[in-house]
Amino acid sequence: MELLDGKLVSRAIIDALTLQVAQLKTEGKKIPHLAAVLVGNNGASETYVGAKVKTCAEIGFKSSLVRLEETITENRLLNLIEELNNDVDIDGILVQLPLPKHISDEKVINAIHPSKDVDGFHPVNVGKMVQGLPAYVPATPHGIMLMLEHYKIDTKGMNAVVVGRSNIVGRPMSILLSGNTNPGNCTVTICHSHTRHLEEICRNADIIVAALGKPEFVTASMVKPGAIVIDVGITRVPDASKKSGFALKGDVKFDEVAPLCSYITPVPGGVGPMTIAALMKNTYAACAERNGN
Ligand code: GUN
Repeated sequence: MELLDGKLVSRAIIDALTLQVAQLKTEGKKIPHLAAVLVGNNGASETYVGAKVKTCAEIGFKSSLVRLEETITENRLLNLIEELNNDVDIDGILVQLPLPKHISDEKVINAIHPSKDVDGFHPVNVGKMVQGLPAYVPATPHGIMLMLEHYKIDTKGMNAVVVGRSNIVGRPMSILLSGNTNPGNCTVTICHSHTRHLEEICRNADIIVAALGKPEFVTASMVKPGAIVIDVGITRVPDASKKSGFALKGDVKFDEVAPLCSYITPVPGGVGPMTIAALMKNTYAACAERNGN
């Protein structure tokens, strides 16, 4: 069993971007600028956005964190996005999800100009991705593809099972793994809460991507010996022994599954850091595209 070390791979990507930004600076070119919008005080969202802003600073990107009250109206948020769309210095916009219930995710995502949609959630980018055209690809599935690429894992012809059908991870992951790309060229099954014989389907998988957000859902009896297991889950579970009061749990029962695998991602330190690295790559690309770098 080999660990797919997201910290190590993301470090390599972040170091490469840092060099590229230093080069832009010496050439007097535009530096990538990410605007991150955070609505309310969701603890996990605060952590994720904080990590994104911190990584921008480390690379040398500019970033603007826009913090908004939980009670902000949908209209005010939409107007703010329009201002960010029109701000020529800003290359990428992300609005951290989930949003409060009174705000429509769909309206907010649709309001972001596709050329600044570094999360890859806008229907224009989703449509391009489905067609295999250049597009901003959602950071988590993009990060997983970069990880498979880094470890030179040849996925051609493999049976891939994606558990979870969210727009952020499961669906785009299924599209990318089935694409005529390397990594890619998998035969993909996408499973969800209504799937019958889930255990059996997973047991036939050469690659399992667990992205359903249920701690320790994937157990040893669901995994074929030699399978590759990618764990997207990162749920806060109460744990009095931790200073924070919670432990982070993946969607995979790591201790019993890991010995069976050819490769597996740990939680934390697997997919999480790759998500941030992929977002940074998207932001760099958005700046290059807009400014002809
Ligand atoms: N919430 C969970 N994952 C993501 C993500 O990749 N982007 C945004 N904007 N919100 C998220």
